[in-house]
Amino acid sequence: MRQIQSLFKFVSLGLVVVLLTGGSARAQEKTGAELFVSCIGCHTVGEGVRLGPDLAGVNTRRTEEWLIPFIKDAQAVLASGDEIAVELFETYKPHVMTPNAFTDDQVLLVLAHIAELEAAGGGSGPSPIETATPEQIETGRGLFTGEIRFENRGASCQSCHQVAGAGIMGGGSLARDLTRAGDRLKGSGVWATVKSPSFPLMAQAYADKPLTPDEAFAVTAFIEKQSLDNVEEDSGLLGVGFLFSGILGCAVLIAIYSLIWKGRKRGCVYDEIHARQLGAE
Ligand code: HEC
Ligand code: HEC
Repeated sequence: MRQIQSLFKFVSLGLVVVLLTGGSARAQEKTGAELFVSCIGCHTVGEGVRLGPDLAGVNTRRTEEWLIPFIKDAQAVLASGDEIAVELFETYKPHVMTPNAFTDDQVLLVLAHIAELEAAGGGSGPSPIETATPEQIETGRGLFTGEIRFENRGASCQSCHQVAGAGIMGGGSLARDLTRAGDRLKGSGVWATVKSPSFPLMAQAYADKPLTPDEAFAVTAFIEKQSLDNVEEDSGLLGVGFLFSGILGCAVLIAIYSLIWKGRKRGCVYDEIHARQLGAE
């Protein structure tokens, strides 16, 4: 018994050690590029203003002593009455920078990544459409319409958006038509929005059901493809797809039912008897 107990202790101690070291190794593993994903919904590097300022040159424009606390909690710096923060706030309101639970080292990693992007010509990395295969684009279409489920069970994009011709059902009209989003959002804008939505409603929909990197890649490639192919928006025809598929579905059902009950009695129960009687006369 004693032996079993100590074996049990040994095993659970081992498990705790594995969990602790595994956990901290994973937290440290995040690279600057991975951390930067949470910024690209609002910032570009060298592609212009998004919701917040273009971060190209920010490493020389500001000091590290200013950047570290600001990136961790911009509102706190603003509340301290910092002149630069007040000026930025005035320029970019009503948008504000959300706080980040980063360590100082993580902020430095992000800043180093921004410098790297800048040296490489800017952007948030290459857009998926540049390298996507036709299969990935087709997967993106399936994910968009909901024909394929997201691994973490996030809502299909089509529940709020539509893309012309994506599926017979048309799409939601809660948010913008994305057929031309690739043109509308400069550079890597679609990629940025899908990876890190800066719109509260959309961000909330995926907050605890994030897309996997592969899924985000495929959906973005699908959306960008529509702009590349110059697909026109289905203006004003929203809902016609629904109506049409409803009528079609109804007709198909009626056809099936009449086939199943082909041999059904058509007249009243006594019809046959009555007819026989008449014939016998
Ligand atoms: C929800 C949108 C949003 C997100 C997400 C966001 N920012 Fe910002 N950022 C802003 C806005 C808006 C400003 C302008 C200041 C303000 O109004 O708070 C700003 C300002 C900044 C500035 C100051 C720029 C300058 O010219 O001095 C830096 C640096 C910055 N952000 C870095 C980051 C980093 C790094 C991340 C990711 C970890 C990030 N931001 C995430 C919206 C955002
Ligand atoms: C809960 C509803 C909802 C869902 C689900 C949703 N979005 Fe959004 N999305 C929004 C809202 C709201 C906006 C803000 C713009 C607007 O008002 O239409 C937006 C904006 C966007 C934009 C920027 C549009 C532009 O031209 O400025 C893109 C791109 C986008 N969404 C892509 C997607 C993709 C891809 C998916 C699926 C992975 C998705 N969205 C799922 C609500 C949603």
